[in-house]
Amino acid sequence: MAEELFERVFPIFSRNFDKAGESSTEIKAILKSFNLDPDLIRRAVVVTFEAEMNVVMYGYRGELRLVITDEDIQIHATDEGPGIPDIEMAMQEGYSTATDEMREMGFGFGMGLPNIKKNSDSLKVESQVGKGTSLSARIRFYPHE
Ligand SMILES: Nc1ncnc2c1ncn2[C@@H]1O[C@H](COP(=O)(O)OP(=O)(O)OP(=O)(O)O)[C@@H](O)[C@H]1O
Ligand SMILES: [Mg+2]
Repeated sequence: MAEELFERVFPIFSRNFDKAGESSTEIKAILKSFNLDPDLIRRAVVVTFEAEMNVVMYGYRGELRLVITDEDIQIHATDEGPGIPDIEMAMQEGYSTATDEMREMGFGFGMGLPNIKKNSDSLKVESQVGKGTSLSARIRFYPHE
């Protein structure tokens, strides 16, 4: 069993583009304080930022949970929201339901979920339409063990 070294929950406020990304910035500082490998930190920050932005853009409310164990960094994002009707489609590069307003702010390229996938060693996305979505990503310290 992995030993849990750190856990913290960050609330995410839907549609709050001013505060969006703050949790990711804080998470980066926490990971740095653990003296983790810069490449692992970079990957974890991509995952947290993209997961956070998806909740800001599509969820009604949600939270980001960061867990650091002796084996991995885990990022869990859960929201109450519209859910994702077709997860396989949502995982495709370029697929996006972002509004024009979101695109004007520089989001909505349909790259968030594919980038989360690319930067994590394991990813689980579960969703119930009309209820919400949960995403769990793990970045392992020793991926080949
Ligand atoms: N938490 C969520 N709740 C509801 N729908 C979601 C959620 N996360 C993603 N989606 C759906 O999956 C699509 C693809 O997400 P993805 O993050 O890959 O792209 P995007 O957010 O549209 O654009 P980008 O991430 O490049 O800014 C979204 O457009 C949206 O339809
Ligand atoms: Mg996104």
